[in-house]
Amino acid sequence: MTTIIDVPPERYDECLEVLHAGFGTEAPEFGLTAANTPTNPAFWAPGEVARVVARPAQLFAVEVDGRILGCAFVSPSRSEPGTWTLRHLAVRPEARHRGYGEALVAEGVSRARDGGALTLRIGIIGENTRLSSWYHRLGFVTVDAGQRYPGLVFSVDHLELAIEAVA
Ligand SMILES: CC(C)(COP(=O)(O)OP(=O)(O)OC[C@H]1O[C@@H](n2cnc3c(N)ncnc32)[C@H](O)[C@@H]1OP(=O)(O)O)[C@@H](O)C(=O)NCCC(=O)NCCS
Repeated sequence: MTTIIDVPPERYDECLEVLHAGFGTEAPEFGLTAANTPTNPAFWAPGEVARVVARPAQLFAVEVDGRILGCAFVSPSRSEPGTWTLRHLAVRPEARHRGYGEALVAEGVSRARDGGALTLRIGIIGENTRLSSWYHRLGFVTVDAGQRYPGLVFSVDHLELAIEAVA
């Protein structure tokens, strides 16, 4: 059975494994290492999931037959009223191409809408054109591209989805 769940603290380590595996496929592809990008979830230390949840953020996951196969965080922007941000979306490599990623994005949209958001924002590695194409297929629009930040070895694109109110 497939369900979307709120992740309780006792399962944060299971999510950490998913994040390590999920981002572990992207890190080598884009030249990320624990030394040059320690903030990437591929390199998160134990305790980091709890720290992000405490910012605060909602952590939710796709659970299949009792096992977490993907997860993501969503939270209101601190600086932009009406905007929420989806972060650290990951699906285990062996569980990809079954729609779990899309289901997690839909859940993030739903949670942001429930929180009063008009816009859902994400930041992605700009060089990851496969990922941006996927988000575009899901309705996101690139609002700025190629941003460089001090200390990051990649550029960042920001994408946004306009959230429609449900009647
Ligand atoms: C992006 C990601 C969450 C998609 O998960 P998923 O469960 O495979 O998503 P869906 O089944 O709904 O959609 C699959 C599509 O995702 C896209 N995709 C983007 N990056 C991908 C990747 N690294 N591997 C596989 N598919 C990827 C492809 O277009 C794929 O389409 P296809 O099945 O026709 O090849 C997953 O690939 C992942 O965890 N990637 C690594 C972490 C990452 O980049 N997260 C985004 C951070 S903003």
